[in-house]
Amino acid sequence: MHNRNRFKLGLFGANCSNGRAMTVAPERWSASWDDCEKLAELADEVGVDFMLPIGRWRGYRGQTDHQGATLETINWASGLLARTKRITVFSTVHAPLYNPVMAAKAMATADLIGRGRFGLNIVIGWNDGEFRMFGVEKRAEHDDRYAYGQEWIDAILRMWGPEEEFDFKGRFLDLEGLRLKPKPHGGTRPVIMNAGGSPTGRAFALRNSDAFFTALRYPDLATAARDAAEVKAAGRAIGRDIGVYTVGEVVCRPTRKEARDYFHYWTEDMADWESADYMLAIKGIRRADDPVGYDVKRKALVHGQSGFTMIGTPDDVADELQGMATAGFEGIGFSFLNYLLELPYFAQEVLPRLTRMGLRETA
Ligand SMILES: Cc1cc2nc3c(=O)[nH]c(=O)nc-3n(C[C@H](O)[C@H](O)[C@H](O)COP(=O)(O)O)c2cc1C
Repeated sequence: MHNRNRFKLGLFGANCSNGRAMTVAPERWSASWDDCEKLAELADEVGVDFMLPIGRWRGYRGQTDHQGATLETINWASGLLARTKRITVFSTVHAPLYNPVMAAKAMATADLIGRGRFGLNIVIGWNDGEFRMFGVEKRAEHDDRYAYGQEWIDAILRMWGPEEEFDFKGRFLDLEGLRLKPKPHGGTRPVIMNAGGSPTGRAFALRNSDAFFTALRYPDLATAARDAAEVKAAGRAIGRDIGVYTVGEVVCRPTRKEARDYFHYWTEDMADWESADYMLAIKGIRRADDPVGYDVKRKALVHGQSGFTMIGTPDDVADELQGMATAGFEGIGFSFLNYLLELPYFAQEVLPRLTRMGLRETA
């Protein structure tokens, strides 16, 4: 994240079984440690800028228990940072589920292992079942969840800072005699990202993060450009220089037909519709309330949950990424059906095109 690539590329969701693809396709992503390790080594070698995991504690049942097997993200990042040299590896940390002292220490350790390449994605959580697993109450007021998140990150930043010892007393946290040694790598702090979607979430991201991820599915690039410009302007208004990122999926093949056929195979012939139904159910979306709208949402989940879906030849995918850069995005976190099978072709064909477009340095 600290290199000179104008448009940053990251792999999103590789710590979860199935990644972000709700599919029963047999080649779906395992998220085994061996596969994650191989993926990180390859990503590091070809010049991918970051890896962004998903903080997930229980899967979405269905035929594959989508995202049911997940590697805890601070441990995952620490292991991958030890195996790599250049890439930034994020953790995705639920503020209400991780004690702040434990989190500050574990993340400082990860940052030392990576010699400054660790990043934090703060999430405040939405999944009731996950909170119940922890026996932690999900605060009824959405704004209170972010108010807690603010105290959590304030306490952590102070622990990472130069103070030797301090007390932290807020509305939610009352922490006495805090000491944290060693500090993160080289007197710096890890890069912070956030993906709050609500106005309160966005305001939180503007105050606290270096990178803001939006998951919106924009109708066109002009709308995306307006949104990115608005976020940056709102950041500047409070003296913060925020990078705006998006998310997506990639299917890249020598011909458009091959790419479209593969996307159809994964999202129609081999979709895990039962997982999609389960995810909608826990979000309180029921077919009985709106059968037509339900099917649209169900399809949207399986066809790529958010951001941009890039399906086509290397030229198509490179052009789409260039469009995002022109619209003002600093980068994208994207997924493949199987990251290890798909990254080599992307690296061989798309990355050199992006270099020629002036969006990236050579790997
Ligand atoms: C790139 C990205 C990554 C996210 N990762 C997670 C995650 O790993 N775990 C999680 O519970 N929520 C995750 N979210 C959801 C957000 O943290 C947030 O809850 C959601 O965007 C709704 O925003 P709001 O809380 O402001 O309503 C992610 C969202 C995006 C766009």
